[in-house]
Amino acid sequence: MRAQIAAGNWKMHLTLPEAQKLSSEVLNMVQDEYNGSAQVILAPAFPLLGAVAHLIKGQKRFALAAQTLHEAEQGAYTGEVSAAMLVSAGVSHVILGHSERRQYFGENNALLALKIAQALRHGLKVIYCVGETLELREAGQTMELVGAQMREGAFGLDAQGFSNLIVAYEPVWAIGTGRTASPEQAQEVHAFIRKLIAAQYGETTAAQTPILYGGSVNAANAAQLFAQPDIDGGLVGGASLKSRDFTEIVKALP
Ligand code: PGA
Repeated sequence: MRAQIAAGNWKMHLTLPEAQKLSSEVLNMVQDEYNGSAQVILAPAFPLLGAVAHLIKGQKRFALAAQTLHEAEQGAYTGEVSAAMLVSAGVSHVILGHSERRQYFGENNALLALKIAQALRHGLKVIYCVGETLELREAGQTMELVGAQMREGAFGLDAQGFSNLIVAYEPVWAIGTGRTASPEQAQEVHAFIRKLIAAQYGETTAAQTPILYGGSVNAANAAQLFAQPDIDGGLVGGASLKSRDFTEIVKALP
């Protein structure tokens, strides 16, 4: 069975003490209450990574993700963070292509392909986000857009490289809005993405690639979403900032 994953994207939230408190609470609650096999990934902001790495050290179920990285190896890029820095800080995963990065920081598919390649060069696993705006959904162009994001951002990889990807389908209209895609709406796009992967890399790779849903996942709707055959977990924003809510989302996974 492919991996089941609950990933918490903390975005630009939490100070260091708050991040330590939240991580400890989630660690304890998940240890006490969850017996399944899902992986739990925490994605704090850069300055919090070291502290969270320290807290989750030795916890096999837990992994640490950054929220982006720079595509260059190193250099005069004031304010940016490299893949090597992340690895040295205990990071194993990186979120790339989040719609907030695409929208506010001008990240397009071509740039994301470079960032993905750079992450893989350093042995990071990538959570690659795709998803349409409301305008495109209403225009009936969801599959076209998601298809282009997959092809241009990710399908330049060879099969070995692609096996380090986790895809996250995050409809932009569902992120932070409280308006979740229905399980059926999400499943339809997940199945489409899996078909694209099968056409590019074959059935085995497609069957093994985790595809997460993101966009207003909460403790109340997680189980229904995760019950869909092609939904392998969630990339969770708002609800990942509350230990009880996030733990309930983890517990919705097998
Ligand atoms: P949300 O964010 O759960 O707050 O909608 C999801 C995300 O942006 O990854």
